Amino acid sequence: IPVDTFDLVIFGATGDLATRKILPALYRRDLAGQLAEGARIIGAARTEFTDDTWRAEVRSVLDETLPADLRDTVALDRFLGRLGYVPIDVRGEAGWPELAARMRADVVQAYYFSVGPSLFGDLAQRLHVHGMNTAECRIVVEKPFGHDLETARALNATLAAHFDEHQIYRIDHYLGKETVQNLMAIRFGNMLFEPLWNAQYVDHIQITVAETVGVAGRGGYYDKSGAMRDMVQNHMMQLLCLIAMEPPYAFEPDAVRDEKLKVIRALDPVQPADIVRGQYAAGNGHASYLDDAENPASRTESFIALKAHVSSWRWKGTPFYLRTGKRMRARTSEIAITFKDPPHSIFGAQEGQKSNVLAIRLQPNEGIKLKVTIKEPGPGGMRLVEVPLDMSFAEALGTSDRDIADAYERLIMDVIRGNQTLFMRGDEVEAAWAWTDPIIAAWESREEVPQSYDPGSSGPEDALMLMHRDGRRWREVK
Ligand code: BG6
Repeated sequence: IPVDTFDLVIFGATGDLATRKILPALYRRDLAGQLAEGARIIGAARTEFTDDTWRAEVRSVLDETLPADLRDTVALDRFLGRLGYVPIDVRGEAGWPELAARMRADVVQAYYFSVGPSLFGDLAQRLHVHGMNTAECRIVVEKPFGHDLETARALNATLAAHFDEHQIYRIDHYLGKETVQNLMAIRFGNMLFEPLWNAQYVDHIQITVAETVGVAGRGGYYDKSGAMRDMVQNHMMQLLCLIAMEPPYAFEPDAVRDEKLKVIRALDPVQPADIVRGQYAAGNGHASYLDDAENPASRTESFIALKAHVSSWRWKGTPFYLRTGKRMRARTSEIAITFKDPPHSIFGAQEGQKSNVLAIRLQPNEGIKLKVTIKEPGPGGMRLVEVPLDMSFAEALGTSDRDIADAYERLIMDVIRGNQTLFMRGDEVEAAWAWTDPIIAAWESREEVPQSYDPGSSGPEDALMLMHRDGRRWREVK
């Protein structure tokens, strides 16, 4: 269904995010017929492009990066025809009157802040001065949303000075991932799982986001963040919320966000003994973290594993184990819910009898697998084996990875539709920082040095111990 026609301004249009994610996402939606006639995208950045030279630039980027089957000359020309460009000085006056003159009053107006957070305040202020912060316009802001609670609060206050909360779209692209939304469909669209979705039946939950890439090229940002700020405070926290939250009364923005907020507030402080931080060493032909970050004395973690507890009636006693890292063995993101063992085994102690696991795989090969125990086929007596009930989306729905829209495609369309369900509310972000700040402060005050781990591994040894000492083990990263 086409969305309403719009003027979307991308501040930072020549930057990495705009080039790699936002523009290709818009092109794909256009290719799919979702952009209404007359929808326009206006690039705004410091570089002195004209409409035409920027179009040429975007054409060459898309030509280079689009997979062959998405290259369609007619669609590409139509898409480029929607583009315009205004050179702008975010902190000065240049370009602002031109931009204001280009905005149409009778269409959806959206401003994408694809710039560093230090410029958010200036952008908000300039939009106000030039009369562009109309009551119905929307702004889209990227992570990192603050560096800690204090800066996040300040950022919220800055934006709130010029925009109402219903106009502010804080992106966490994990919420746009197909399987993440499926998590809600599975939980709240079926009767099967919800009765078991609590501490009485669930032994523990594992959330893994493993990456094979290092931080070379973005060490400057990463070294000041580390895995906790870069991944846990936002993406992993959102995943945890969707698993742990109570059913919202409707799939509506505030209903969903109220429930997520309650989860974050119910998180216990994490004890130092329940956290393992790691930093990748050199190996396999790759440089070490210290070299990638160009900071030989860095104590920043490129890996973190921790055990969290949600103090709620539903989850008391069920641990949530989270781990994420760079330069790990494989790129894989998954959530695994391990159910408790049956109270009594009528088959005696048997090798094949394992706990039921519901594994929700975010990427690659999106899908959901439920491991169940059955009898091994054949005449060998009652021997038990574990088999997966497998719902690979590609197989079940005849879709390919390619058909599964990129998170940015869905989220940008939601901005135009005016649907904030998959965006973070200001109080949610602050609550997440309120939980992370003391954890970070504790290791900083101890001047703790992260443990070294080999590239291509599953992280430091101690991360394994974090589960072993509870009589559990991590799922393999593969
Ligand atoms: C970003 C982080 O938000 O998410 C990166 O800053 C990380 O460090 C990326 O690599 C992971 O996203 P995805 O979609 O590739 O899992």
